[in-house]
Amino acid sequence: MSAPAGRARRVLAATAAAVVGVLAVGMAVAAPSTAEPGPTLGQLAAAKGRYFGSATDNPTLTNAPYTAVLGSEFNQITVGNTQKWQYTEPSRGQFDYRQADQIVAFAQAHDQIVRGHTLVWHNQLPGWVNDVPAGELLGVMRNHIANVAGHYKGKVVHWDVVNEAFEEDGTRRQSVFQQKIGDSYIAEAFKAARAADPNAKLYYNDYNVEGVNAKSDAMYNMVKSFKQQGIPIDGVGLQAHLILGQIPSTVRQNIQRFADLGVDVAITELDIRMRTPRDATKDAQQAADYRAVVNACLAVTRCVGITVWDFSDGHSWIPSVFPGEGAALIYDENFAKKPSYWAVYEALGGTPVTTTTTTGGNTSGCAATYRVVGQWNGGFQGEVTVRNTGTAGITGWTVRWTLAEGQRLGNVWNGVASTTGQEVTVRNAGYNGTLNANGTTTFGFIGSFAGSNPAPSAITCTTA
Ligand code: G3I
Repeated sequence: MSAPAGRARRVLAATAAAVVGVLAVGMAVAAPSTAEPGPTLGQLAAAKGRYFGSATDNPTLTNAPYTAVLGSEFNQITVGNTQKWQYTEPSRGQFDYRQADQIVAFAQAHDQIVRGHTLVWHNQLPGWVNDVPAGELLGVMRNHIANVAGHYKGKVVHWDVVNEAFEEDGTRRQSVFQQKIGDSYIAEAFKAARAADPNAKLYYNDYNVEGVNAKSDAMYNMVKSFKQQGIPIDGVGLQAHLILGQIPSTVRQNIQRFADLGVDVAITELDIRMRTPRDATKDAQQAADYRAVVNACLAVTRCVGITVWDFSDGHSWIPSVFPGEGAALIYDENFAKKPSYWAVYEALGGTPVTTTTTTGGNTSGCAATYRVVGQWNGGFQGEVTVRNTGTAGITGWTVRWTLAEGQRLGNVWNGVASTTGQEVTVRNAGYNGTLNANGTTTFGFIGSFAGSNPAPSAITCTTA
């Protein structure tokens, strides 16, 4: 953890300077800005010696509103698909790193550490691997690991060396590797990965192993045996594809028992799915569930970080695999922060929201909800969520409120602001005016105040 922690300290220092700079240039000018100040989840996690990251995939790297969040909010990235065998060695001995390199380059450009995912998995395996004769497969697997982990040597902090090797009852999954190489394939994979990149932390990664159960018992026994034999394993990844209201009660205990074996633990693919559509009750449960997972990790020193399996509900694998389910992440499909985001934010030590919210009337076709995200001596960060309350889509919105005496508006992002005296008008930015029925977006701002910092007694939203 020393490299991520050091990097995170630099990020934190830079952010503190940026916030001071924003305040120093004067609060009276409402200059539109796309740079969102204030602590991010990555910065909050770093302050606790951890990372908070997201998986991502190549098609989204050209989506500007998406990459604005991906590049700023997280201090860790997992390559969601394109480091898998199917992409990196599509034909025997032919390696292709073009797509994965794009994601690694993005992470490096944004000072984010990279979890490599994954070297040996039964899924997303090109067909030719299944046809390799039994006597050759160990060599083929070693060659794959040597090439892929070798290519990313020094660029990947953690490798998911082997993924999903156990069944729910704790027996070995009958993958091609298990069938043709036998039980030893996992240990051989770890040895090959250590040889290829001695400084990467080597992880075994699986799902449905967050609590204590037959599958996590099998994983526990394997790690214990590897430690006894000197097989190089450094960590276990608990994927944490979880279900609303069904967080296992033994997550913390389970993390602790792996830590006690002398390995790190990471929450590697967190999402918490629900039956869609969302509503306020489900959102509140989801926030509590996210908080529980973050707290379980923070309770154990060797739980080194948390990764969400992409961050926006519009870019989640869930709806395509579980029809009728989704809304599993911390941002909605318009990149507005959900209650689950704020639960993570607060669990990581972010300043709790201190101000009550105010909502505009439904007749206008949209509603605005105002809240103070964080507050310091004479300054604050606010956020307004705009929701389309009508039954049809809208193509633009305007939010208005009156500043209290002594309040001034500073930088505004994700919206275009103007002020006349104490009257504030914020219109949508070019990219977030279109909202489907019940769709939401947020804009944020920096403000200053003298004396108290009341929320507006009314805030209105009108379409267009
Ligand atoms: O790239 C093709 C595209 O060309 C084609 O048009 C499209 C049509 O279906 O498919 C695209 O490939 C899809 C690929 O994701 C990239 O989007 C595959 O069909 C789809 O099966 C694949 O799903 C991935 C899944 O792993 C495969 O098992 C998900 O994106 C990915 O999020 C998911 O990640 C896994 C972790 O690696 C391991 N743990 C569980 C997790 C969720 O299943």
